Amino acid sequence: MNILAIIDKKRYKEALSFAELDFAFNGYYHKKIPDYQMSALLMAICLNGLNEQETFDLTEIFIKSGQILDLSKVDGIIVDKHSTGGVGDKTSFIIGPIVAACGLKMAKMSGRGLGLTGGTIDKLESIPGFDVDLTFEEFIKQVNTVGYVNVSQNKQLVPLDKEIYALRDATATAESLELIAVSIMSKKIASGADTILIDVKYGSGALIKTKEDAVHFSNLVKKIGQKYHKKVITVIDSMNIPLGDNIGNSLEIMEAMEILQGKQGYLTDLCFKLSATLISASKNISYDTALHEAKEAVSNGKAYQKFLDFVAHQKGNITKLPLSPIVLEVKSHEDGILKDISAYKIAKLASILGCFRHSKEDQIDPGVGIVLNKHLNDKVHIDDVLCYLYVNDPNIKLTFEDLACFKIERSD
Ligand code: URA
Repeated sequence: MNILAIIDKKRYKEALSFAELDFAFNGYYHKKIPDYQMSALLMAICLNGLNEQETFDLTEIFIKSGQILDLSKVDGIIVDKHSTGGVGDKTSFIIGPIVAACGLKMAKMSGRGLGLTGGTIDKLESIPGFDVDLTFEEFIKQVNTVGYVNVSQNKQLVPLDKEIYALRDATATAESLELIAVSIMSKKIASGADTILIDVKYGSGALIKTKEDAVHFSNLVKKIGQKYHKKVITVIDSMNIPLGDNIGNSLEIMEAMEILQGKQGYLTDLCFKLSATLISASKNISYDTALHEAKEAVSNGKAYQKFLDFVAHQKGNITKLPLSPIVLEVKSHEDGILKDISAYKIAKLASILGCFRHSKEDQIDPGVGIVLNKHLNDKVHIDDVLCYLYVNDPNIKLTFEDLACFKIERSD
């Protein structure tokens, strides 16, 4: 087999066989095919797509590159969730405690962030002492006792995705719908849950740009799930503004705790929707009954208690969350109505403050970030604070462009 012929075939929009995909992707994984040839193939896939059979075949090749977790020792219904990516996305550690309080088992493995995305593991590691590397026995024990565990991605789980993901990130090929589906579904299937919720985000701040693509993606991941006898449910949501008020590692943990203690707002509604969707599908009960269960778990304090148990079991000290003491105010220069908070620009600003990594070796600052002080459609006056910046350098230089995250329209 010849890699040039395979790249050429995809360039001319022809379908690749299982054997050809296996030759190219496993060849790359075993370092027989160089970065530049895999990059060319990824770009051809990104431009010309994969058909359903190719997507199924590539998912199978990805899964087989590593181990499949055996969760047979977990008592009860095991659920998992994955988001296609959002700015300020802290839904995992809100939904995990809620569904655990409703009797489900969430056994979750997550990754770190790279570029303009925050990773669940980085956020959890902002809690002093929090251990994201449990042994498999500790992982199973915690799912059975607490109902929610969240650890770092096992290195043996779909290792091919790790290699391809990094290359996609560096070659502008991250946005292929089929490659996103393969990447997410291979990890979810290898992680062993029975019911998988995929939170599909679309919009300017997301990997998937349009609603039409989000619907296509949603159908695709459901079909992949069917092949592996997994119940896959999807929730499609637009993602043009950040998810919640806080962006930054420990700040996001703080907001999750506030929501679990009853704070209201758009993110709370979204978390209830996602939790109810999971509970309804796993327990075979109506959405309304499931929603009632989820809301009850927050109002009676059980979900918050689950969060505290989860942190304590993973050795975190929640009383010692870091927060930078230097706080700057970003104020409005005009009167009007707040019409947009750009998720993309907020993520760029958070990145300047030190929330994210630019390379794998970078250190992130767990105590810096942004707290939004105004919401969409709020009335805004000159000098009103739009957001607070928690910074580690009092002399930080921010340009007008860095702070241009808000669109205010005159109300007259
Ligand atoms: N999340 C993943 O795990 N993979 C993707 O390709 C996109 C989002």
